[in-house]
Amino acid sequence: MKRIFTSQTVDKVDETVKVAGWIHARRDMGKVKFFDLRDKDGLLQIVAVPAELEDAESADPLRSEWVVEIEGIVQARSEKQVNENIPTGTVELLAKKITVLNESKTPPFEIDKDTIGINEESRLTYRYLDLRSERMAKNIRMRNAIFQNMRQFLGQKDFVEVETPILTKGTPEGAREYMVPSRLHKGNFYVLPQSPQQFKQLLMTAGIERYYQMARCFRDEDQRGDRQPEFTQMDLEMSFVEQNDVMELIEALLIHTVETLYPEKRIQEKPFPRLSYAESMEKYGNDRPDLREDKEDPNLLAFCWVVDFPFFESDDKGGWTFTHNPFSAPKPEHMDDLLNKKDIGKILTTQYDVALNGFEIGGGSIRNHQPVALRSVFEVMGFDGETIDSQFGHMLTAFEHGAPPHGGIAFGMDRIVAILQNEPNIREVITFPKDGSARDWLMNAPSPLSDHALNDVHIKLDLDEK
Ligand code: AMO
Repeated sequence: MKRIFTSQTVDKVDETVKVAGWIHARRDMGKVKFFDLRDKDGLLQIVAVPAELEDAESADPLRSEWVVEIEGIVQARSEKQVNENIPTGTVELLAKKITVLNESKTPPFEIDKDTIGINEESRLTYRYLDLRSERMAKNIRMRNAIFQNMRQFLGQKDFVEVETPILTKGTPEGAREYMVPSRLHKGNFYVLPQSPQQFKQLLMTAGIERYYQMARCFRDEDQRGDRQPEFTQMDLEMSFVEQNDVMELIEALLIHTVETLYPEKRIQEKPFPRLSYAESMEKYGNDRPDLREDKEDPNLLAFCWVVDFPFFESDDKGGWTFTHNPFSAPKPEHMDDLLNKKDIGKILTTQYDVALNGFEIGGGSIRNHQPVALRSVFEVMGFDGETIDSQFGHMLTAFEHGAPPHGGIAFGMDRIVAILQNEPNIREVITFPKDGSARDWLMNAPSPLSDHALNDVHIKLDLDEK
């Protein structure tokens, strides 16, 4: 007999079926035992009566988290016994044959309850158990639903998902990067991408026109509730567009995702309100304002755009550095100032950030597709010609070969999923996250390597305190 999922039993009253899963809970009522069997779809009540079983004692040893296969007859529950809290609450399975597929040690924490209060080291060490809990399993499934929904929306609009390299070169976007030593090229390193920024712009130069990617990004930053060393962006770029084209598309995408998957939620204002950076700082003291009318309402979503950011700010050495993204174009009316390096502090960028309930969930801009403008940005930041050519020569050369005007955006998918799932931090919606000090408790990473492995990549350690 083929195994069916617990959710399928509701349509099979009086039929003999086979289900499989984990023992979630056990209740003994004298000789009759009740079990909750859990599979990917949820719970099913199993009734084990010795006289009905092929082996009368086969239900006796079953304990929480044992893996079993059970054949039996689906029975309708009487009206009084219907359990409205579970999808299979109108039926139960009268067990005929129980087969133990695997036993389980007693779990280090209770999985049949919400694990949010359990110490995090334990949850992360036994993440595969934590993920069995109802809330965590749901977070993973909803994450998948959100990804699918966005992919479908973008696919219908002719966007192409393209994978870009993970072993690559550093890009100056503000975060410290992870480095990977090269074995074949002594003394040289790859850098893990903090975003696919340069590759997506090269894809525009390549004529792709509409790109997106659910892209894994890596940043060696101090951790916070909304930051992980590796995280996922929905990264997107379009050719022949202006600021409004990207903003309108993204707004439609976000509204579509929320309205399809979270009908119980309300978007406070559509189209999303737009604030200038200056206005946001003056009114709310930050550039990711929480505009919710009622901050206690778990179903209220207040999106907003923040625009008109200054392009540059003074750095601590008396020079200039970019505020957001060095590849951004200035607002068209400030292009001359950029090219002439005039009134630098007053140049505004085409950057647009999108905030949701007080979190920055995404940001993007229209880019400098003309090499002279991109070169000017690096010159304002004090880079000499040689440095510009060695660091960004590939971009400047590409743009000299017919780069179209283009712009894009990237969202932090982990942040979006966490907010939609009403989770307090992004670790709750990432299957295998690192802890607050970027440590992986399950795999025990980072960890030392043998001298042999280090020799192979030409690395000698100097562990003295600096
Ligand atoms: P930015 O650096 O603003 O832009 O990143 C885009 C979005 O990614 C999310 N994010 C993070 N999420 C989790 N952990 C982190 N450490 C982390 N860092 C960033 C945020 C943020 O809004 N290349 C540009 C995008 C572009 O211009 O198209 C970029 O990466 O939600």
